[in-house]
Amino acid sequence: MKKTTHFVCQNCGAVYGRWAGQCSACHEWNTIQEEEIQKPDSPTATGGQNGRKIEFLDLRGSPETLFRLKSNIGELDRVAGGGLVPGSVILVGGDPGIGKSTLLLQTVSALTKGVNKDGRPTRCVYISGEESVDQVRLRAMRLSLADNPVELASETRMRDIVATLDDDKAPDIVVIDSIQTMYSDMIESAPGTVGQVRACGHELIRLAKKRGFVLFLVGHVTKEGTLAGPRVLEHMVDTVLYFEGDRGHHFRILRSVKNRFGATDEIGVFEMTDKGLMEVPNPSALFLADRQGNVSGSCVFAGIEGTRPMLVEIQSLVAPMAGTNPRRSVVGWDNNRLNMLLAVLEARCGVSLANKDIFVNVAGGMRLSEPAVDLAVVMAILSCAFNHPLPADMVFFGEIGLSGEIRNVPQSDLRLKEAGKLGFKKALVPPNKNKKTTFKTMDIGNLKTLLTFFNKGDN
Ligand code: TYD
Ligand code: MG
Repeated sequence: MKKTTHFVCQNCGAVYGRWAGQCSACHEWNTIQEEEIQKPDSPTATGGQNGRKIEFLDLRGSPETLFRLKSNIGELDRVAGGGLVPGSVILVGGDPGIGKSTLLLQTVSALTKGVNKDGRPTRCVYISGEESVDQVRLRAMRLSLADNPVELASETRMRDIVATLDDDKAPDIVVIDSIQTMYSDMIESAPGTVGQVRACGHELIRLAKKRGFVLFLVGHVTKEGTLAGPRVLEHMVDTVLYFEGDRGHHFRILRSVKNRFGATDEIGVFEMTDKGLMEVPNPSALFLADRQGNVSGSCVFAGIEGTRPMLVEIQSLVAPMAGTNPRRSVVGWDNNRLNMLLAVLEARCGVSLANKDIFVNVAGGMRLSEPAVDLAVVMAILSCAFNHPLPADMVFFGEIGLSGEIRNVPQSDLRLKEAGKLGFKKALVPPNKNKKTTFKTMDIGNLKTLLTFFNKGDN
């Protein structure tokens, strides 16, 4: 008899012939579940069993200029690559409660004010599988969005959703909130399992391409920061956006990690208020708002997020070791990178912090991944270790190599310009051989190596 079930890891989607306690692909325990094998799609009417000859075309051609639907929420449109492309599929991931439903309700409400490709008002459908119609209405009322012509439904059955949307008069935008609540009766397993998410996602994506609507799929992230379940959709969709932030802070960051229609690593910054999400057009000012001048261990980093410069405060605390082992703790940055920099300080500069607890925090709940932040982190640590406040009007950036050299980073002009705009007067940056930066308003120091600080270099 033909096997009808297989075992799928709910964390990474690996498939096994039999059950096991631990997934050998992602090493998670108790994540493997039995699921029905999905039947392959029936041969299409045009192709049949024998297939149909495909026609090859030239690379050159005159593509229609890509039409994009604009929500006029600047932060969102930019992250999406300048607007939403009809027929594209966008996965919006994030922790539960971070504000995904709020963001999408505001987005579709804003979109209804625009026009579609044919010049008609944009039709938006919002399907919630998590909340009842009344709950969504209540939120819309609180956000003063209730008057927008968004078409609302509370539904989880895929069969009904497909029957509704597979129509010539399909809407322009469809939001599915969330993909983990959707249920396809073609598959036995429970909603939210990898099999269900994959099957429902696949069906909806196919429909979006066929009918040309923009499809937003909301997916909840697990505490480990991965889109469990929805992660299997990442390769199927056109755009993956993460909505992140700290529940304790009101900043929310929409980050594009994959985009077939725009640049990745672009971010949009929002602030969660009692009237919903507000755009933050000048995030640097906001991130630096709570900064206290003249304290040791604080340093301003001039960073780049996507195409946009962004200034953030790096804070560090160096304290006598409290336990038997020194603690190194980082919020908003990479722990391994911190260990590397501490090793450089010890081995190259002779600064031993081995018997100290070290904490590094990126203020405001931002998460940084650029190597350019190295210099700012080291300066914050040194500033605290030697109890020497850094000038409050100075910014830093630069990557640090293993021999203590300060390496160049991209877009230094853009970083300096933003710092100048926010009133910073000084900068300590890597030397730029190729071009001499001339900023009349700023005093720019070039640092070749960390050793200079310790009279070991020749700078
Ligand atoms: P929600 O959009 O429901 O999160 P998700 O869909 O990602 O699970 O956001 C819920 C949180 O946002 C909740 O903690 C309350 C907060 N919130 C506000 O602070 N202001 C608002 O205007 C709204 C609608 C929500
Ligand atoms: Mg929600």
